[in-house]
Amino acid sequence: MINIVLFGKPGAGKGTQAEFLKEKYNLTHLSTGDIFRFNIKNNTELGLLAKTYMDKGDLVPDEVTIQMLQSEVDKNPQSAGFLFDGFPRTIAQAEALDAFLATKNQEITATVALEADDNILVARLLERGKTSGRPDDQDEEKIRNRYQEYNEKTAPLMDFYKAQGKFHAVNGIGTIEEVTARLTNVFDTL
Ligand code: AP5
Repeated sequence: MINIVLFGKPGAGKGTQAEFLKEKYNLTHLSTGDIFRFNIKNNTELGLLAKTYMDKGDLVPDEVTIQMLQSEVDKNPQSAGFLFDGFPRTIAQAEALDAFLATKNQEITATVALEADDNILVARLLERGKTSGRPDDQDEEKIRNRYQEYNEKTAPLMDFYKAQGKFHAVNGIGTIEEVTARLTNVFDTL
């Protein structure tokens, strides 16, 4: 069983690459952003709460996100492994994930990060914002706020996973196929 954290700044290509990787490696893909957006679309209590943070580009509070993620893992008891996309995003989330997996005699196998320059990623998100309808892609100020959140709260996770010898970096620039090939090279070693 392998459990992978797909890591990267907003727009790095996590969701795009996860679509391929989940099939190739038979992993359950859990995107916290997608789960929040599903709840927003369905007007659930969780969705209404998450929306107040997501629309501004702020992270949703840890306790809400951790509880949601754990319940999604528990919905998939037969899974051969998980591909976590957009989670963890804080040290508290990473520690909670480790503790939760340990209760199932499991652990994170590796964290694989897609690396790319901020300006390229902001341009990608502004382009997607024209058609996606995602409020957090609509203007550069919100997008920049997402990068600030990343830099303050999420970037420290790189050292957290490096200290465990579980961090792998992949160049996220190039065609989608080129990036997929680089990721596959790393996944095949895990
Ligand atoms: P989330 O949905 O996770 O958004 P994100 O991390 O900001 O990531 P994106 O989905 O924007 O980017 P991505 O890396 O998946 O790239 P994608 O493949 O889409 O989170 C949204 C919000 O939810 C957060 O801000 C927060 O409020 C909340 N949230 C979620 N998780 C949370 C957590 N754990 N804790 C607290 N709050 C949380 O690609 C982007 C674009 O680029 C697409 O248009 C794609 O077609 C294009 N593209 C992809 N690859 C390439 C390529 N190689 N070349 C050119 N274009 C490419």
